[in-house]
Amino acid sequence: MRTVRLADEDDFDGWRDAARALALANVPASDLHWCVGEGSGGLFEQSSAPLPAPPAQATFSVPRSFMSLAGKAILHRDPERFAMLYALLLRVGSRPALMEDRADPLVRRIDALAKAVRRDLHKMHAFVRFREIEEPEDTTRFIAWFEPDHHIVRAAAPFFVERFANMRWSILTPERSLHWDGAVLKEGPGATRSDAPQDDPLEDMWKRYYAAIFNPARLKVKAMLKEMPKKYWANMPETALVRELVAGARNREVAMVERSQAHRDSTPLQGDNALAAWRALREEARHCTRCDLHRCATQTVFGAGPLDPYILFVGEQPGDQEDLAGEPFVGPAGQLFDRALADAGIDRARCHVTNAVKHFKFEQRGKRRIHASPNAGEISACRFWIGQELALIRPRLTVALGATAVRTLFGKAASISSLRGSAHALPESGETWVTVHPSFLLRVRDDREAEYARFVDDLARIDARAAALA
Ligand code: URA
Repeated sequence: MRTVRLADEDDFDGWRDAARALALANVPASDLHWCVGEGSGGLFEQSSAPLPAPPAQATFSVPRSFMSLAGKAILHRDPERFAMLYALLLRVGSRPALMEDRADPLVRRIDALAKAVRRDLHKMHAFVRFREIEEPEDTTRFIAWFEPDHHIVRAAAPFFVERFANMRWSILTPERSLHWDGAVLKEGPGATRSDAPQDDPLEDMWKRYYAAIFNPARLKVKAMLKEMPKKYWANMPETALVRELVAGARNREVAMVERSQAHRDSTPLQGDNALAAWRALREEARHCTRCDLHRCATQTVFGAGPLDPYILFVGEQPGDQEDLAGEPFVGPAGQLFDRALADAGIDRARCHVTNAVKHFKFEQRGKRRIHASPNAGEISACRFWIGQELALIRPRLTVALGATAVRTLFGKAASISSLRGSAHALPESGETWVTVHPSFLLRVRDDREAEYARFVDDLARIDARAAALA
């Protein structure tokens, strides 16, 4: 048994270099014991021999999707992860297509590790709460305490550096601490909860903000506990209010309904009017002949979801399954979209989802109908409908999924990469964000895992903006 020592729990580079050398020397997974740090090999420690030199001209390659999956899974706290990843690496080296085989137990298990890590990263991004302290020389530092489930602290750091670039902050965790002084990120040893301040003047602001955005009619305690597990509550000032708000939710809901009833009695029936107008619009669109796409498609697929949405999503056009079902985003791209929304903590039921083009465009190949991209004329003909939808919904925040939606909302073609990652103020669609279309993630060959994670990160950031605007 050979012992392979890694420098740290999240030492991906060390694992990759060792795994590559061992794979080139054909060392079987069963001959290895992986461990971290000095002298922790315990009973298994028999030989910590130098890594074998690779035979001359030997090469070993694996798909990038494997490396990106491994980069996440390695951050899981499961002590078996290094060995499992090495076993998978050997198999993928001789059969790259294995990465696509979701029925393979090892692929599934490692996928689950990566998913747990992504979720933990999302929780850390969303639930870290800083408390303000005075430092010598009249400076201020913000300190947060957080207990991640996995070894994600270094991987989470760039998010905080980017978001809080101008603040001086520290994040303390049991494993290590991070300190940012506005220019340089430093690491320190792990800490305990008592090293972090317990409250600060900002807490009141958080509590007021939370109480203001708390909507009793949308209270789902189970979903709330799932999204914001109790474990994190101690660090989040606003959660001090939860018990009280939940207890009063029923009364507040009744009061809200009464208020809206009174509003209805004294003003035009705005909500009902919007619904009636939207239904009329959808009915009219069913008979649309503005371009030729209606000839082959089964039906018009109109938008779906509330007319006062938390977020309005605009996709490209219905696919094969949407064309048959008459509903947007229900096929494979829709399922991936649902998964990403869930990973980003967004409730699809609160969102309105529509498409830039309302009819399915395809090429018939035998029995199969293969998606074909709409051309500029078809997109522009359908612009009429989305213009009406935007005028009716007047979204606070809209997301363009992919290039066709960008063309429709921005009125011109533009690359996703030039628009992604920041907000664009547009007269009709409000604050507008751009990200890739979920079907891009189904098509992409290399780094699918990383692209998916980027998509979820985009959605999580958009969710934070939508919460602030709601
Ligand atoms: N792709 C889209 O853009 N819209 C759908 O409804 C389905 C797939």
